[in-house]
Amino acid sequence: PGARMWGGRFSSGPAPEMDLVNRSLPVDRRLWRHDVRGSRAWASALGAAGVITLTEAADLRSGLDAVAARLEKWTEADWAAATDEDVHTLVERLLGEEAGPVAGKLHTGRSRNDQVATDFRLYGMEAAAALDAGLRGVQQALVDLAESHVDTVMPAYTHMQRAQPVSAAHWLLSHAWPLARDRERLADASHRIAVMPLGSGAIAGCPFPVDRVLLKESLGFRGLSPNSVDAVADRDWVAELLFVGAMAAVHLSRLAEDLILFATSEFGFVRLSDEYSTGSSLMPQKRNPDALELARGKAGRLIGDLTGMMALLKGLPSGYNKDLQEDKAALFGAMDALGVVLPAVAGTVATMTIDTARCAAAVDSAMLATDLADFLVRRGVPFREAHGAVGRLVRAAEGLGCPLSAVPGEVFNHVSTEFVGADLEALFNAKASIEARDSIGGTSPSSVAHQIAELRAIG
Ligand code: ARG
Repeated sequence: PGARMWGGRFSSGPAPEMDLVNRSLPVDRRLWRHDVRGSRAWASALGAAGVITLTEAADLRSGLDAVAARLEKWTEADWAAATDEDVHTLVERLLGEEAGPVAGKLHTGRSRNDQVATDFRLYGMEAAAALDAGLRGVQQALVDLAESHVDTVMPAYTHMQRAQPVSAAHWLLSHAWPLARDRERLADASHRIAVMPLGSGAIAGCPFPVDRVLLKESLGFRGLSPNSVDAVADRDWVAELLFVGAMAAVHLSRLAEDLILFATSEFGFVRLSDEYSTGSSLMPQKRNPDALELARGKAGRLIGDLTGMMALLKGLPSGYNKDLQEDKAALFGAMDALGVVLPAVAGTVATMTIDTARCAAAVDSAMLATDLADFLVRRGVPFREAHGAVGRLVRAAEGLGCPLSAVPGEVFNHVSTEFVGADLEALFNAKASIEARDSIGGTSPSSVAHQIAELRAIG
């Protein structure tokens, strides 16, 4: 095992088995830049507080810069050879090699408990920004495609049954809005991530006159943790970020499911580009939507990461407990998964084409049954009665084995006298049905244009 931060009171080192379960370097090595940054700021704070001399603070900072320059060049073999307990131990050991004995002064007033909480939040702030950019990419790809399909007619489904005609733009935007909400949730969570625990010590706070306000500003935090016992245990933000990620993944999964279905030969509403399709090793004709299936599949593991984190926190007493070390694998895994899924989904959407003829052909006249009932309502027929009358028309169409629009006029006149003399041809117009729905949030071209403008304004 490498150098330890805590050997003094023990007569022997840890058993190899103990070392193996305890070590977190293979996971938390990803925090080395954040650890160096936090340590640099801490050295300055100790210097400003007069706990160490300004020269010592400067020596620590240049030592940490040398450590960073070294780690920047580390190969996988270098990392594999490092036997340190965790990233904090590693950085302090290397600092000793670079700066000499003054390295032993850096950990004054600090604990790995407030240190890791700080490092991880610095990572969390970056991860939130990257997640926002990824979500924005998919949102924009959907809006771009929607813009050219405001007049494309397609069926909307409820219970997977043909329901009413909508524009393809309206359907595409129905997938953009949930992502906009994910980004709102992310912005809200980010507010709580940017709270600095440094200065909380192991549990009770810092006895040296370190200026936490200056410290938080130098590290780019918004606020300060108000209670040291809470600060070293608080992983609410990890769970929140995992929830935002899992919710976004569920949204992507739903989009993926729509697209996988609509790309089948049976539907044929969309065609995925060659760049975002894969072939089969056996069947030469295959064109598979693997990126979308992986988006759908990875939602499962994101839900698992969230659930695992909640379960991890559930049984803990207050203060820091080593269980918390498991927080990193969960968040890294979730953010990494989204980091590959989001650009792939954005690319799939940006390069796919919508078959307007196939979409229009799937809108049968029965999907205008509600519009027929609305026609009767406008003539003063109570909606319940109108619903019943059109229902009888649908039954007649089924009995005759013809489309609703081909039911003879006499049958219309028979179910309701209000149909007498009506322009039935005009009633069976999907475009008109779409145009009529121009309330805010409806599928009409003007409502859709409004949605596009709002989403563009979000950016
Ligand atoms: N590797 C630890 C973690 O990730 C750092 C904190 C260790 N604290 C301690 N008291 N052993 O949580």
